[in-house]
Parts: sequence; C-alpha cells; structure tokens
Amino acid sequence: MKTVEIREAFLAFFERQQHTRVPSSSLVPVNDPTLLFTNAGMNQFKDTFLGTDPRPYTRAASSQRCVRAGGKHNDLENVGYTARHHTFFEMLGNFSFGDYFKRDAIRFAWQFLTEELKLPKERLWVTVHISDDEAEKLWVEDIGFPIERISRLDEDNFWQMGDTGPCGPCSEIFFDHGPDVPGGPPGSKDDDLDRYIEIWNLVFMQYNRDSSGEMHPLPAPSVDTGMGLERIAAVMQGVHSNYQIDLFQALIRSAASVLEVKDLEHNSLKVIADHIRSCAFLIADGVLPGNEGRGYVLRRIIRRAVRHGNKLGATAPFFHKLVDTLAKQMGEAYPELRQLQGQIEKALLNEEEQFAKTLDKGLQILNEALEGLSTTEIPGDVVFKLYDTYGFPIDLTNDIARERGLSLDIEGYEAAMAEQRSRSQESGSFKVDYNDVLKLEGSTEFVGYDSLEAEGQVIALLSEGAEVESLAQDASGVIVLDCTPFYAESGGQAGDSGYLSAPGLRLEVTDTTKAQGHHLHHVRVLEGSVKAGDALQAKVDSRVRQRTRLNHSATHLLHAALRKVLGEHVTQKGSLVDFERLRFDFSHFEALTAEQCKTIETMVNDQIRANTPVNTRLMNMDEAVAAGAMALFGEKYGEQVRVLSMGEEDFSVELCGGTHVERTGDIGLMRIISESGVASGVRRIEAVTGVAALASIEALEAQLAQVCEAVKGKPDNVAAKVSALRSETRELEKEVARLKQKLASSAGGELTSSAVDMDGFKVLAATVEGGDAKSLRDTLDQCKNKLGSAVILLAAVDGDKVALAAGVTKDLTDRIKAGDLMREFATRLGGKGGGRPDMAQGGGSDVAGLLAALKAVPGWVASTIK
Ligand code: ALA
Repeated sequence: MKTVEIREAFLAFFERQQHTRVPSSSLVPVNDPTLLFTNAGMNQFKDTFLGTDPRPYTRAASSQRCVRAGGKHNDLENVGYTARHHTFFEMLGNFSFGDYFKRDAIRFAWQFLTEELKLPKERLWVTVHISDDEAEKLWVEDIGFPIERISRLDEDNFWQMGDTGPCGPCSEIFFDHGPDVPGGPPGSKDDDLDRYIEIWNLVFMQYNRDSSGEMHPLPAPSVDTGMGLERIAAVMQGVHSNYQIDLFQALIRSAASVLEVKDLEHNSLKVIADHIRSCAFLIADGVLPGNEGRGYVLRRIIRRAVRHGNKLGATAPFFHKLVDTLAKQMGEAYPELRQLQGQIEKALLNEEEQFAKTLDKGLQILNEALEGLSTTEIPGDVVFKLYDTYGFPIDLTNDIARERGLSLDIEGYEAAMAEQRSRSQESGSFKVDYNDVLKLEGSTEFVGYDSLEAEGQVIALLSEGAEVESLAQDASGVIVLDCTPFYAESGGQAGDSGYLSAPGLRLEVTDTTKAQGHHLHHVRVLEGSVKAGDALQAKVDSRVRQRTRLNHSATHLLHAALRKVLGEHVTQKGSLVDFERLRFDFSHFEALTAEQCKTIETMVNDQIRANTPVNTRLMNMDEAVAAGAMALFGEKYGEQVRVLSMGEEDFSVELCGGTHVERTGDIGLMRIISESGVASGVRRIEAVTGVAALASIEALEAQLAQVCEAVKGKPDNVAAKVSALRSETRELEKEVARLKQKLASSAGGELTSSAVDMDGFKVLAATVEGGDAKSLRDTLDQCKNKLGSAVILLAAVDGDKVALAAGVTKDLTDRIKAGDLMREFATRLGGKGGGRPDMAQGGGSDVAGLLAALKAVPGWVASTIK
C-alpha cells in the first residue's frame, strides 16, 4: 500500500465510524503561544478537549502535519541516527470529545489494524499505563489480546501536549519487525532499539495540567490518538526503516542525483530527505529562517541539512532543488506545496547562500580545534565562537561531534554566552518591565473605540519602576486608570497621547503602553499633585489619534492589496502605525517593481474612494477563520476576537484590536513613499495617508517648482528640458577635455624653454596654468618627448590645492627616480605622492610655498642624482 493510500484508508475507515474528516491545521499554531509548532493531531482540538471551543461534531479524524523540533517534543537530534524519528511527519488520529472512551478507542484501533490493514495479530504488542487496570482488562477481555504481550509502564504511558494543557494515560500499540532486527519488547532493557516500534498511541484524555503542575479533570473523558503515517507505511510496505518507504525513497533518490552521490544508503541522504520536508512545510506555513523562535528552529534545520550536503561533497546550493520532488510526492494532499514552490525554493536558496559564506571557515576552525584536543570534549569557547561568528547552531556542532565520538562542553559554552550577554547588557540602558512590577487584578476597561474622552479613577501610580502613593508637580511616572479612552500600544499601533485632568490638576500623557491587561499612561504632572483614587477626566489628543486611525486602516488595505498583487505567501512580519506614517513588513523575496508599487497604491486608493463602511464584529475564533480573517500566527487572541472588514466585497478581513476609520473614504489618499528590504525574504513598505499624503504631494510640487525655476522651464516641459541640458553638458565636457589636451601640448612647448641644463640632461620645474591632474600627465609626456633626457616636476594650482606630476626620462631612471622626486616635493608642500621610477603623481596644499619649492628642484636633483 502506498503512503497516500494508507492516509486515505484511515480517514475513510473513521468516516464510516461517524467521524468528521477535519483538515490538517497549520504547523504554526494559530492561537496558542505555549506551542512552538503543531506537534500532534490533537493540537487544533486543545480547546475542544478543555470545553471552551465546542464543535458541531463529537468525533473527528485527521491526518495532521507535525513538526517535532525545538519544542517539548524534539526529535531533531535523533534524525539520522534511528530508523523512525523525523523532524516532520504526518499523524493520523481519531478523536472523541466526550463521546466514546477507552473501550471504543481500543476497538477501533484493533479493527483498523487487523481488519482494514490486515496486520498479523501475533506481530502486535501493547502497553498500558501502570495504574490502568481498566485498559488492560479491555484489551484482554474485549479484544482477546494475550496478556503476556501487554507491558504496563509509567511515564511512557502518560501523554501530555506540553508543560500545560490536556493530558492523560495512554495505551500504545507496537509492531514487531521480527527477530532479524535487534531490540526487545517495550519495558525491556533493549526497548529503545528498532525491533519493536510504536505505531499507534491511544491517549485517554482526562486532565488539564495547569502552570503549577496540578491536574484538573476535563469536562468529559475524551480520546486522542496518533499513528505516525511513515511508521505504518513502513510496516505495510514490508520495510524496516521509515526511510525505505516510497515517499522517502523518492526524496533520497532526488538528493542523490542532485549531489551526484552513488551510495543511496548514506546516512546524510536520510537527514537531508527528512529535513527538506520540515523546512518546505514550515516555509509554506509562513515561517522564515531567522534568529529567534520558530525562525531560528527553521534555520537550524536548514543549516543541519546544508552541513550534511557539504559532507557529501556539495559545492553549490542544492537543498532548494529538492522542493520539486517533494511537491510531486505530497502536492496532492497539500496543494500549498505546489502553489508556493517558487517561494519555498527562494527562501531555502537564500539561507543556503548565506550559510555557505561561513560554513567552510567554521569547519576549518573546528578541525583546527580538534587537532589540538586532548580530551573527548569540544571546549565551550570553540562551540560559542562557531555559534556566534560562524552561525553554527549548537545542535549542528553537536551533530558533528557525535559523528566523531566527541561531546560538547555545554557548561563552558553557556558561560561564554552569559558573559557576552552581560557585556551587551552593560552597554545597553536599563529598562523597566512593567509586567514584573505591576500587581493588579483584572484589566483596564478600554472605551476608546467609541469616544476620545472618559472619566477614570486612578488605581495605581508608578515612578521609576516602583509603585508610589502620589506624583507631585513636575514629576514623571505612570498612571493606571480603571477606565480609559487611551489606546495602549499594541498590534503595531502606537499608544495615544493627550491629557488627564481634574480641578487644579493637569497631566500630559506622552505615551500609553500595556502590561498585565492594564493601560499604562506615561505622564508628566503639569499642575497639582495626583494620588490613588483621584477621578480624572481623560482626553485623547484627537488630532494625533485621527491621523493614526487613517494609517492603521490604510495598513489593512495595503496588506490585502499586497496579497492580491504579489500572492498569498505575503504575510505580515511586522507593522508600525503612528500618526505620521505607516510601516509594513511582509514576507516576499524580491524588491517590488515600480509598476507593482503603483498597482498596489492604485488598488488601495480605489478602495478608499469606494468609501465603504468599516465593519467591526466580535466573534469566536472559528467563526473568524470561517469569515476568512487573516490572523497573525503565534498571537494569542482571547475567546472573543474583533474582526475588522473593509472595502468592496470584504476586500480586507483581519483580526485587529486597533482603532480605525468609519468609512474607507476617511483615509483620503494613500501614497507609498518607500519600498526596501529589511532582512532576507522580508520587504518593507512605508506610506502616508490623509493630510500627510497631501503634504507629500505638496512637497513634491515645491521641488518641481524649484527645478522649473532653476532651468527656466514649465512643469510640462521640464523633463525634456533637463535631459536636453544634460546632453548639452556632456558635449561641453567633451569639448573642454579636448581643449585642455590641446592646451597641454602647446603649454609643453612653452614650458620646455624654461628648462635648466645639467650635465647632459635637463631639469624642468614649472606651473601649468589652468591644468588639472589629468592634463598635467599629458603635459608631462609632451615635455619628456621634447626634452629627450630630463627630470621634470609640474604643478597646477586648483583653489587651495596643488596637483603635482613628476617624470624622469627612461635613460635617467636608474640614476634618479620620479617617485623620490615626488615624495620629496609633495612633502615639502604639505601633502603626499608617489609612483613609478619614470612617472609619479601627488599633491599638496601649501600654495604659497609652491614657487620656492619649484626653484629648489634643480638643486635637489643635482645633489641627489647618481
Ligand atoms: N497526542 C498523542 C501523541 O502525539 C496521540 O502521541
């Protein structure tokens, strides 16, 4: 059975058991900052298990793409060393949300394996949790499974998604790959070898673990199962290693052909075949290589693959070339691979090229360090240097160390890292983290969507990062109110400014930020003194807010237009909206053409002129996603999200907590003022709206008027006029050069008459009127020709500078050198110079001393010449 057929058989089987087929979710969890990557089929159902996200079904089945790298479940380091670990894999799973429990979970699994897939029963082995008599009894009595092939284990049979969240005891099913493969049954001392391989995990979800580690019962006992598609494919295809299944073989063959490697069994090919899957899928899901978080894990995987390619002799980028085979293998189940193939290849190629610059050098440093090594541990400072200077993620260095039977001095590495961190902290300035200092329950009530003025009561005051009783006149600090119209900086939108006041009291708010759900007004007391409990009239600076709103709404239109013009791969990578302008960073691999910028700008302005109302709706996350709202990956949204739609036919639909215009027409006009690159694969657009957009046009008009004035033209003919002027100038420049040359040759004639006779040769030291560096050289040649045998120093004065050229005819160069003559006299004139024995150039600044210097030349020559 091919891998695709197994995936389909599974989903179809569970559909027949009344399960709803649910598509795989993104590798980047949409609404769960506790999770680095989707690491199990149950992730998208986490809140359904917890009871906070009810679904229209109680049974579901899916084939979920998963990445286990960098997070709690991290298999990156095992890849290449076992037959069954992957950074990327697909998990087949069936789920019950308070519907069936242990009995049916076990029965379905048994039926699917033995009746659908027809696996021989005697090749299966089962484990249950050490405390779970019930599960053991079901296996023995319901299924008739032999008790001697059941192991009862502790930690291995308790599954949890992360440090917090749904968890419960589990029962695992193992396949015995036969006595030819070394290893023992689960629970025996050899169980980590490859003979008995876990193929299916049935988790009986019962608890929710909180951040203190305590477990609370779920609203209803539930079921979560997971079967690795690649593992079951290996079983069905009669092979022992996952890397021998159809899908991996295609990738391995493709890597071998790109790298021109003959040995298809080479371990590095397996690593590369594994890594191309996680990397391609992560990029398709919006992750880009970077220095932090998810981006850094992706970078680590790519670099690990590149290093293995290097081991196989790669001399040029190769990794990106495998995307094509992957898209052919998996594109049917995951069409986004085909749609985004070009983007994925570019992102990989970029990273490959970047790492290539330091890989060789880093390996060389490592090899040198290894040569002098007397222990089996690579010193921490070497590991750190490789990381810091050569971009070697620590697990890459570890991979190399492991291949050579060495280990890393992790402690030393961490010490070097800590030292660097404290160095950079010392040089930075101290910043208060209000999340740490603020001790308040609840959250500020924000009323600023509808009004710019409200009354609020002071519930906390802070000064220099600590709570205080009051703030006196002229003091600066932070004020927290129970209710405020001031928008606190978030989602890229700058915080509001304005005033807080009461009779006899006036405070200026310079910025508003957020911590612990509260709005922090950064204030300076202009008049009076403020204390806890005071009721203040809060008034937002409406001019600033108004302009900020225009920019924020325009950002949404811009985002939507970018996706329409450039493609769906465009996702937000950062945004800054304040009253002056908007700045939007997004993923894209090339500079935008002027034409694309224009199209995007026009599209946004068309939407502005359509003047449609901006709609804000509160809904739950599922509804929002169904409405097509663009959510930012990795952001935590509350249970209720605010969905903003604007433009014709919902041109833009986004989740957003910011403040916006009422109708798109309020924006007036948007103008893109710059497009640039900020990081590999990330572009930036800056734009202005409303009065600022008008002002930018007025500024251009003023510049145009100045240009017209300068060239005596009119706006409609000024371009032609300027280009006519430019060609005229070019002609004139040519003419001047020609004349200068002519002048030089006649000057050469005149100058030579002032040459002084020496013993069989002449010395000439003179100023060339109107000359420059280039014409001096020409004149020098003329003089040499004319004088036949001579030592010459020519000078030209240009403002406060003197240009010099020295020459010695060939017959004299072994007696005196032009370079020496130049050095001597350039120094005397306060400058420097040098050159060949027959010709040297230089300059000085002592214009007043020039005449005397020239007079001294014959004497110097007479005393120097050999
Ligand atoms: N969530 C369970 C696992 O990943 C099924 O093993």
